[in-house]
Amino acid sequence: MANEAKKTATLSIEGAAEPIELPIYGGSEGPDVIDVGKLTSQGYFTYDPGFVSTASCESEITYIDGDQGILLHRGYPIDQLAEQSNHLELCYLLLNGHLPNKAENDQFVHTIKNHTMVHEQLRHFFQGFRRDAHPMAIMCGVTGALSAFYHDSLDIDNPEHRTITAHRLIAKMPTLAAMSYKHSLGQPFMYPRNDLSYAENFLHMMFATPCEDYVVSPTLARAMDRIFLLHADHEQNASTSTVRLAGSTGANPFACVAAGIAALWGPSHGGANEAVLTMLNEIGSVDNIDTYIKKAKDPNDPFRIMGFGHRVYKNYDPRAKVMQQTCHEVLGELGVEDDPILKMAQRLEQIALEDEYFVSKRLYPNVDFYSGIILKAIGIPVEMFTGIFATGRTPGWIAHWNEMVSHPYKIGRPRQLYKGSTQRDYVAIESR
Ligand code: CMC
Repeated sequence: MANEAKKTATLSIEGAAEPIELPIYGGSEGPDVIDVGKLTSQGYFTYDPGFVSTASCESEITYIDGDQGILLHRGYPIDQLAEQSNHLELCYLLLNGHLPNKAENDQFVHTIKNHTMVHEQLRHFFQGFRRDAHPMAIMCGVTGALSAFYHDSLDIDNPEHRTITAHRLIAKMPTLAAMSYKHSLGQPFMYPRNDLSYAENFLHMMFATPCEDYVVSPTLARAMDRIFLLHADHEQNASTSTVRLAGSTGANPFACVAAGIAALWGPSHGGANEAVLTMLNEIGSVDNIDTYIKKAKDPNDPFRIMGFGHRVYKNYDPRAKVMQQTCHEVLGELGVEDDPILKMAQRLEQIALEDEYFVSKRLYPNVDFYSGIILKAIGIPVEMFTGIFATGRTPGWIAHWNEMVSHPYKIGRPRQLYKGSTQRDYVAIESR
C-alpha cells in the first residue's frame, strides 16, 4: 500500500539549520495524516501518550467519525448492518471486504458451523482453573492454548492457513466462552449444535444441560446476534492494536488473539459492560443518582459513570442507539420493562445527557451502557459480559491481523521520552 503525498507539512525547529518537510497523505475518509516516520533520522521522536493523534497503520476495514457518530464496516453503516444483516455475514464482510452472495454466504456459514467443536483434549485445560476463575482468565488461557492444537495451519505467510485460522477462531470462540461459563457452574460442557444459528448455538451451549434442552426465543437469539454484530470491529481500539502489535512480531494468530482478550478485559475497554452493572448495583436506587453524578464530576474523585464517554466518539455512539432499541425489544419480550436496574439506567442517561459537565465534555452513552442490561435480561451472568464482547470482537481482531500480515509490515516498536537518571557508575553494595 504505497502512499503518495498530497501535500507536505513544514516543521521548523528552533536552532535547526533547515526546516523538515513531512509528507501528508489522504485517506478515503477522515483526517489526513502527517508521515513522521523520517523524523528519527533528524534526531527527533514524536510524543503522543495514549496514541491520541497517532495513526499506527493503514486499514481498509472500519471507519469511525467520532464527531458525527458514524461507524462504517467496509463502507456499510452499522445501523444498516444491524437492521438488515447478521453477525456471520458481517464476519464475512470484515474478512473479505465485500458482502457475500448467496452461495458464498451458505459456504461461509457451513464452514463456521463445521469448526465449532474444540479438541477433546482442550476440555482438560478447564479442569486446571479454579471453579471461581473469571471467564476472561480462562478465555485468555484456552485461546492461547489453541496454538498447540493447530500446527497444520500456523504458517502466517500462507493465505490458506490464515483463512482457516480465522474461521476456527470465529467458530470456536462461542464454544470456549460457553465452556468457561459452564466450568464456573460445575455443569457439563454442552457440545455445539450445527442445526442452530451462531447466536442460537451460543445460547444453547450456555443454557442447555444434558438433562434439559434450552428452547431459544427468536427475540433473544436476534438480540444476542446483534450484540455480537455490534461488537465485531471498532478499528484500532486498544485490544485490536494489541493484536496487531503482537502480530507484528510474527507471533501466531491464536497467541495474538489471546493478547487481545487480555487487553479487552480492562474496565476502560471491554470490561466496561460488567462495570456498568456493578455501578448500577452500587448506586442501588434512583434516589442516589444525584450523589453519584456529583462524584463523577468531582475532579478529586476517581469515580466515573461507566458506559459513558469514548476516546473517539464525541457524539452518541451509533452502536448505543441500536443497543437501546434492542434493549426495549428484549425487555418487552421478557415482560421486565419495569426492571429497577433499567429504570436507574434510563434516569442516569437522562440526567447525564442534560448535565453541563457531560454535555461540555461531550460524554455520551457508549455501546456498553445498554449491552449489559440486555445481557442481564437474557440471563447471562455479569462475569460473562466481557467474554461475550471478546466473542463478538474476534472477527475484528482476526481481520486486522490478517490485513496486517497480508502486506509488508514492520515490527511495532514505539519510542519514549526518557526521564530517568542520566548515566552513572555502579556503586558496590557496601558503599551505598
Ligand atoms: N464519567 C465522568 N467523567 C468522565 C467520564 C465518565 N465516564 N469519561 C471521561 N470523563 C471526563 C474525564 O474525567 C476527563 O475530564 P477532565 O478533562 O476534566 O480531566 C474528560 O472527561 C476526558 O476524559 P479522558 O479520560 O481524558 O478521555 P479518554 O478518551 O482518555 O477516555 C474512556 C475514554 C472511555 C476511557 C473514558 O471516557 C471512560 O473511562 N469511560 C468509562 C469507561 C467506559 O465506559 N469504557 C467503555 C468504552 S466503549 C467500549 C470500548 O470501546 O471498549
